[in-house]
Amino acid sequence: MTSILLEIRDLTVGFPQKDGFAPAIQNLSLKIEQGESLGLVGESGCGKSLLAMTLLDLQPASRIVNGDILFKGESVIPLEKRHALRGKEISMIFQEPMTSLNPVMKIGHQIGEVYEIHKKYSSEEARKATLEMMKSLHFSDPEKVFDKYPHHLSGGMRQRVLIAMALASDPLLLLADEPTTALDVTIQSQILDILKDHQKKMNMSTLFISHDLNIVSDMCQKVMVMYGGYIVESGTVEDVLGSPLHPYTLGLLNSRPKGFHQTLEPIPGLPPTLSERQTTKGCLFASRCSKATDICLDQRPELISYQDHWSACHHATS
Ligand SMILES: Nc1ncnc2c1ncn2[C@@H]1O[C@H](COP(=O)(O)OP(=O)(O)O)[C@@H](O)[C@H]1O
Ligand code: SF4
Ligand SMILES: [Mg+2]
Repeated sequence: MTSILLEIRDLTVGFPQKDGFAPAIQNLSLKIEQGESLGLVGESGCGKSLLAMTLLDLQPASRIVNGDILFKGESVIPLEKRHALRGKEISMIFQEPMTSLNPVMKIGHQIGEVYEIHKKYSSEEARKATLEMMKSLHFSDPEKVFDKYPHHLSGGMRQRVLIAMALASDPLLLLADEPTTALDVTIQSQILDILKDHQKKMNMSTLFISHDLNIVSDMCQKVMVMYGGYIVESGTVEDVLGSPLHPYTLGLLNSRPKGFHQTLEPIPGLPPTLSERQTTKGCLFASRCSKATDICLDQRPELISYQDHWSACHHATS
């Protein structure tokens, strides 16, 4: 039997402006079951990081104006409820490792603190657990790195420190925002294996944000494609990435690097800005879509289910 750990219902989040309000995430719904990994993909600026940050109230400039967020069946819209989840039941690995670490605190103590606070370990126990965690994350000399400061480490090492801190509290849900982008390819696959192992062992759920569709298909059971603040396609990884219904998903698949001799087919044009989203009447992808017709310019398509494979496109089945 499965149980829903996180449920988001019809969520709209945005930024108050001088002359009104600019929504950056619109009418977004999703469910993540215990132990499940949901991938979130889409070009830069579509609202992926904002969604993860909203779950922990980490973007103070933004406001939720509609919808509900349920964690373990309970609404966490009140700010204090989301603050209480931070680093405990929900951990986050951020895109930029340097800004997330304390520059004047030794690496080992930053990781150890998580064990001391969340698991009530003594400083001795925390040191031991920290060194074990660092070893499992392929630090070649954990004892030495323990006493270093963030600026002593490479970008890849700092990212692994953040991963260690995120996993140390054994969260029920991990928000992984481009967790391996700063790592080189060999370390990347080792770290992804560690995340997978941890997920299985602890029955941890993951919201896995990535622009890399290959990583998402390796890490996740389900995937959502975001465009201009909306979910435009969602379903199992097999359905969405294997038989995409939405032209945008197809565009993402065609624009990813393939073989050495194959040319990339980037999607023409750019995603809509926040203000363009508000002034556009029809489908936000229309100006970039080769399948666009009159109805696309006139009506915003709704997310419709085709046997649990959802797509927001007027011509999804054609
Ligand atoms: N503080 C802010 N004020 C106004 N707009 C913002 C702010 N932070 C982010 N945004 C806008 O919110 C949108 C979503 O951003 P983000 O979630 O970071 O995108 P992604 O992670 O998908 O690249 C973007 O259009 C971005 O410009
Ligand atoms: S609704 Fe029309 S413009 Fe939008 S993705 Fe579908 S075919 Fe393209
Ligand atoms: Mg982002």
